[in-house]
Amino acid sequence: MDISYSTEEHFIMNTVSAAAAQLGVSAYLIGGFVRDKILGRATKDIDIVCDGDGIALAHAVADLLPNKPKVSFFKNFGTAQLIIKGIEVEFVGARKESYREQSRNPEVSPGSLEDDQKRRDFTINALAVSLNKADKGTFIDPFDGLLDIKDKIIRTPLLPAQTFSDDPLRMMRAIRFAAQLQFHIDVNCFESIKSQKDRIKIISKERIAEELNKIVMSPKPSVGFDLLFRTGLLELILPQLAALSGTEYVDNKGHKDNFYHSIQVLDNIVPNTDNLWLRWAALLHDIGKAPTKKFEKGHGWTFHGHEVVSGRMIPKIFGNLKLPMNEKMEYTKKIIELHHRPVALTKENITDSAIRRLLFDAGDDIDDLMTLCEADITSKNAQKVKRFLENFEIVRQKLKEVEAKDQIRNWQPPITGEEIMETFGLEPSKAVGTIKTAIREAILDGIITNDYAAARAFMITFAEQLGLTIKT
Ligand code: CTP
Repeated sequence: MDISYSTEEHFIMNTVSAAAAQLGVSAYLIGGFVRDKILGRATKDIDIVCDGDGIALAHAVADLLPNKPKVSFFKNFGTAQLIIKGIEVEFVGARKESYREQSRNPEVSPGSLEDDQKRRDFTINALAVSLNKADKGTFIDPFDGLLDIKDKIIRTPLLPAQTFSDDPLRMMRAIRFAAQLQFHIDVNCFESIKSQKDRIKIISKERIAEELNKIVMSPKPSVGFDLLFRTGLLELILPQLAALSGTEYVDNKGHKDNFYHSIQVLDNIVPNTDNLWLRWAALLHDIGKAPTKKFEKGHGWTFHGHEVVSGRMIPKIFGNLKLPMNEKMEYTKKIIELHHRPVALTKENITDSAIRRLLFDAGDDIDDLMTLCEADITSKNAQKVKRFLENFEIVRQKLKEVEAKDQIRNWQPPITGEEIMETFGLEPSKAVGTIKTAIREAILDGIITNDYAAARAFMITFAEQLGLTIKT
């Protein structure tokens, strides 16, 4: 098999070959770079392993380059890094490594190339390409990584129990690669993940979240979440989502499996957005359905207020997963809280005031909200899907018309709290809020026009009803 390299990559490989020859060591390309090249995927950084001192090799490479770039290195880990022609190149000496039980700190000692390949996570990541004069460009593939790439299989070089025990995050990496590359996890690996899932507890939340984000951003995230669920990992890392699984029947009435619905909605939104947080909103939009689920006699299953409950659950979920607790979380929460509003609009005669309210509440996120609503259609009935989509198109049209007329998206009511306090000689108080809300509501409802004069006149009349008079 031939791999095609860019001019920059050729330059890097030739320079590493020359430096390795000078030092009398053998160097190899390894890891994700080789895997992604074979798969024709975009590559990021280049990993180089050598049967000697990786830091010394990095320095020898830097010395051959005209600008002598700075080598960053970590003596404790024996790794070094250089940026060459804009590409990050990582150097490491081949090593044997094992993790002590209950510990995240590896024990490392120098080893052969094969020792190094053996301690890597998957056969598809353990494949090496020689950079040495005698056999440059040859694959060194003791664990049949090439075959596994061809067969689309995620498999460990050693017994899965050993590989996963060395670094339990690899259980999530296996699932992430399955979703990203659309590969299958080998059955022994799958069983091993199931039996060691509890060891994920020694892994930091940040590393887990990074893998989850990669699953969310993959072309078919449902593959990853289904595997997380079936291995039992989901229950440990995101129990609120696992709790949506299953259907229940009472009086012959069932409800849909909200876990499978949620991951299908996430798949549906993939072609329409690369926004990580909108994808998270799609995954978690119904998370409040487990705590709100009720069976009402004569009526069936209900999930009253689940969108508000879902929204309220977001800060805790983000906090637990160490996802950002900033405007990204607020955005996700808001989209989730609002996700039924456009649906409600399709069921009634759409009034301008209802549209104005939605524009006001969603602001600039209105298009994202509509994108989620469209992804939320998971019916198998083509007629129904067509009707729902047409209804949302009507809502989108109406949103455009009302926005063009009233410019509500980034609108602030024309009278501020300060002006209310000044006019009536008030201190900050509940009355100020009441008046402010009344003005806003009157405009959104179309009772008064959206301008300063109308708002001021309304404020004075409304305040009089509260027993307030203008301060002279
Ligand atoms: N690796 C490993 N075990 C881990 C992490 C990494 O064995 N827990 C090895 C694999 O050989 C991997 C290489 O280190 O290919 C580089 O790791 P990393 O950059 O995290 O992953 P990539 O495979 O390059 O893939 P991606 O960049 O998509 O994460």
